[in-house]
Amino acid sequence: MRNTLAVLALCTMPAAALAQQEGPFSLPELPYGYDALEPVIDAETMELHHSRHHQSFIDNLNSAVADGDIAEDAQVEDLLASASTQTDRVRNSAGGHWNHTFFWELMAPEGERGEMSSELSEAITAVFGSEDDFRSAFEQAGAGQFGSGWAWLIVDDAGQLQVTSTPNQDNPLMDVAEVQGTPILGNDVWEHAYYLTYNNRRGDYLETWWDVVNWDQVSENYAAALAE
Ligand SMILES: [Fe+2]
Repeated sequence: MRNTLAVLALCTMPAAALAQQEGPFSLPELPYGYDALEPVIDAETMELHHSRHHQSFIDNLNSAVADGDIAEDAQVEDLLASASTQTDRVRNSAGGHWNHTFFWELMAPEGERGEMSSELSEAITAVFGSEDDFRSAFEQAGAGQFGSGWAWLIVDDAGQLQVTSTPNQDNPLMDVAEVQGTPILGNDVWEHAYYLTYNNRRGDYLETWWDVVNWDQVSENYAAALAE
């Protein structure tokens, strides 16, 4: 009975008060405040997304270490590259951790969003026809991803830009991805990323999201991907 009561007490506690799984993985700090992306992304969504959803991937990775599924010094990039041989928990939590860490850096408060580099701008025009056409292709990839997942702009093995999408917490760095490459931009199309403000209007979220993109960071990602 005592154990049952203890479990019931735990179930009624707010998630943030629950003990986090100790281990080598930790939640990266958000590079700006929870309200910094308003009104495009509301503060409550950002707080839940970062402190609950991203934290859950960290906890699951640490649990996987505690259970002996992965090594204490496992590198996220290695887990992604070997996703086909990992458990579903490791595939989802390594993907979730990498995707969200990447995602936070792709956005910035007003005045800190920079500009697309001329190299990236020229490559986008060469591949997609125009920046507007690129945006449409990216939005379509996000809107067309059935269920939960991510839309991506990647540099493929030939150094070419491509727009693609992945289900769940997969990404193009995984050996299981249909289209593989190095992501330079990605948008989270899970409902938890937009539902409080946009409800079921994923297309509106995708269209409005451009207003918070940090183009300095995306341009840096492009240069780094080409140099690989
Ligand atoms: Fe998310």
